[in-house]
Amino acid sequence: MELSINQQALAYLLSAILFILGLKGLTHPSTARRGNVYGMLGMLIAITATLMGRDVQSYGFIIAGVAAGAVIGSILAARIQMTAMPQLVAALHSFVGMAAVLVGIGTFLHHRSADLLNPVLMAEISAGVVIGAITFTGSVIAFGKLQGLLSGAQVKFAGQHLLNALIGLLAVALAVHFAMTGSLLSLIAMTLLALTLGVTLIIPIGGADMPVIISMLNSYSGWAAAATGFTLHNNLLIIVGALVGCSGAILSFIMCRAMNRSIINVIFGGFGSESGGGESAGAQAAEKGVKSASVEDAVYWMEDAGKVIIVPGYGMAVAQAQHSLKELMELLQGRGVEVKFAIHPVAGRMPGHMNVLLAEADIPYDNVLEMDEINPEFPSADVVLVVGANDVVNPAAKEDKSSPIYGMPILEAGRARQVYFLKRSMRPGYSGVDNLLFYQDNTSLVFGDAKDTIEGMNAALKGGGH
Ligand code: TAP
Repeated sequence: MELSINQQALAYLLSAILFILGLKGLTHPSTARRGNVYGMLGMLIAITATLMGRDVQSYGFIIAGVAAGAVIGSILAARIQMTAMPQLVAALHSFVGMAAVLVGIGTFLHHRSADLLNPVLMAEISAGVVIGAITFTGSVIAFGKLQGLLSGAQVKFAGQHLLNALIGLLAVALAVHFAMTGSLLSLIAMTLLALTLGVTLIIPIGGADMPVIISMLNSYSGWAAAATGFTLHNNLLIIVGALVGCSGAILSFIMCRAMNRSIINVIFGGFGSESGGGESAGAQAAEKGVKSASVEDAVYWMEDAGKVIIVPGYGMAVAQAQHSLKELMELLQGRGVEVKFAIHPVAGRMPGHMNVLLAEADIPYDNVLEMDEINPEFPSADVVLVVGANDVVNPAAKEDKSSPIYGMPILEAGRARQVYFLKRSMRPGYSGVDNLLFYQDNTSLVFGDAKDTIEGMNAALKGGGH
């Protein structure tokens, strides 16, 4: 059965509505699952309506492509670790970029052989190819940095910005020439320059800023898809591309605001990361005047507390400690302790990272509070348990004007009666900045893998021998 143009337009409209409902659902953890279902349903309708349209000439390649993609996608989805999600997203963006380049070049060759070229079409092709090529190589570099295949350090050299500006201007000039003349040579040169620009734009950026960059590349991939939608006269692709382009840009902005950085600073600045050390954490701590504590010390304070606030961070994700934390919450609640979780907007390595992990462990949303809601509660907490978080509770962000994280809003964990950090060593967090909270009188560090430490706490609480 073949759909008429009107039937297909109706199906696309329905998909677009479902995508918008999907995005709306993803704005809160309690509705995120429903949002995902809307998104999947929208995509199913969109793909079905496209395949039943008049433009499809043969199904052979399509079926082969869908089958190969489905197999690779299923294996990836089943095997991917949550902590590796940012690089997976980067890899997926590179596919969108590559698709936009291939569709653009393919459309040009097809229309040229049918003598159907016109300047508007070629301008659309230029936009799709240039943005797609930048997205492709930029995402490949981001993937390489996050996967550890390339150095995560900032790569800087003199005249970098000038070089990028020159490449960008040259690519735009060639795009205009291509749109006016239909020269294949200009198309190829413009594509190569845009591919180079993707590398030179992303390679200087340090690993610390990569999540924001990925969100920006997400936005670029959306604009590349929208441009491709114009080329293919596909309204749904235009709508979806614009939705992705805008939501990626808004997300980048929210992340920058949560870190108190300007997007320009992220793109051209970046702060240092990665510090060595790590052997004999206890000795290093003592040398620096930091108190270390045992699991039993922390349990002693928690079991009779009125309120315990747990601050999860990237280390909780690494240790996969969320399920043990759920058990700890229940054990403490069983003793009449009020337990809350405090989420910083950039805790972990991607937006919503902590929310996803806590939801996976079935920790009720009502116990999980955002930074602005929980900050006034810290002074009334007996114990704050900082589980593999670091930068997001570092008072240097408020007190030390020379600190690279100065101005970033933080969770005010230091205002509680007792603070216990669960971490493995004296190493700093992602920003590479020493944490001033370690040196506060009411702070102690419990060294070890977060999951092991929490399991020790749970065993002690179950033993009840305190
Ligand atoms: P971080 O400051 O990165 O600190 C994580 C801590 O976890 C480290 O101090 C580490 O110490 C500890 N850790 C690692 N593995 C552990 C394990 N198995 N068991 C126990 N502890 C472990 O994390 P955060 O507080 O969540 O802050 C996030 C950082 O990422 C911020 O600087 C933020 O700006 C940046 N960032 C986040 C995002 C998003 S969207 N989330 C985007 C861009 C940048 P040890 O090595 O000593 O164990």
